[in-house]
Amino acid sequence: MPGTIKKLAVLTSGGDSPGMNAAIRSVVRSCAYHGVECFGVYRGYEGLIEGDFERLDARSVKGIINKGGTMLKSARSQGFRTKEGRQQAYQNLLDAKIDGLVVIGGDGSFTGALIFNQEFGFPVMGIPGTIDNDIFGTTHTLGFDTALNTVVDAIDKIRDTASSHNRLFFVEVMGRDVGHIALNAGIAGGAEEILIPEEDLGLDRLVESLNKSRKSGKSSSIVIVAEGDKIGKNIFQLKDYVDENMEGYDVRVSVLGHMQRGGSPSCFDRVLASRMGVKAVESLLNGETNYMVGLLNSKMELTPLEQAIKGKTKINLELLRVSDIMST
Ligand code: F6P
Repeated sequence: MPGTIKKLAVLTSGGDSPGMNAAIRSVVRSCAYHGVECFGVYRGYEGLIEGDFERLDARSVKGIINKGGTMLKSARSQGFRTKEGRQQAYQNLLDAKIDGLVVIGGDGSFTGALIFNQEFGFPVMGIPGTIDNDIFGTTHTLGFDTALNTVVDAIDKIRDTASSHNRLFFVEVMGRDVGHIALNAGIAGGAEEILIPEEDLGLDRLVESLNKSRKSGKSSSIVIVAEGDKIGKNIFQLKDYVDENMEGYDVRVSVLGHMQRGGSPSCFDRVLASRMGVKAVESLLNGETNYMVGLLNSKMELTPLEQAIKGKTKINLELLRVSDIMST
């Protein structure tokens, strides 16, 4: 019911992403603006179970909008998967008289929030924070834009050395089971091929396409491989296959790894985080619960957590076509 919330808590959970700090800042300052007390919970659900939280005021979040990572730390909690763990977390929130929770994280974190609400009726609101952009109900998750810029910067650098040595590079990017990072960064970095889980190119067509590029006068090539792509068993086997079935290229592999999750958030992610934090707090204060805030058609919208968890994000088919045409 509107008007009943006096104390909110915020936590970050799952893999961190650039923009999480900006979202924490936004939640804390929105609370301060509306005269609501705000508590920061450390290490995600682990901190909720251990009662590891402290009061944050508007000044506690100064100087963090430009920082990567999360000042509240993050964890993938095993304890919160158990009924006992969630019961303890609920008791800690009751003891502190906290009456609403903002969860910044991905679908695993939202699943925990939903179960928690179903068991105890505790008001929860999700903010999608992951570089993978794999959450239904928002065109952009927090950190996706920054990660793309990081990956494009890396591809640009790899291209310098690839062209100096006439080499073919396979570059693995993150994204778990989806290819949003690979597809977008691949186009922006001018990759010759982009391998994503949503489209099965097949090994023969890959080799055919790389041979075509070579014949068209390209002396070096970059293939972006989403970590979830299954064309080769892994990127090193993919390299071995191409090495054995293609002549004329010196082939190398570069796995970008966790550097994609770090760094100062982009302007886009800072603005998105600020908007999401305001929307999350105001929605809870308006009596909404079990939703995720998201960016849809340039507006902040609410999507039921259940849909955000179960819904599938779709790959942009137009981007796939653009990528094909650009690799001509
Ligand atoms: O979900 C974010 C993400 O960085 C994925 O892209 C990646 O597959 C995974 O987390 C890596 O997780 P961890 O930090 O546990 O190695």
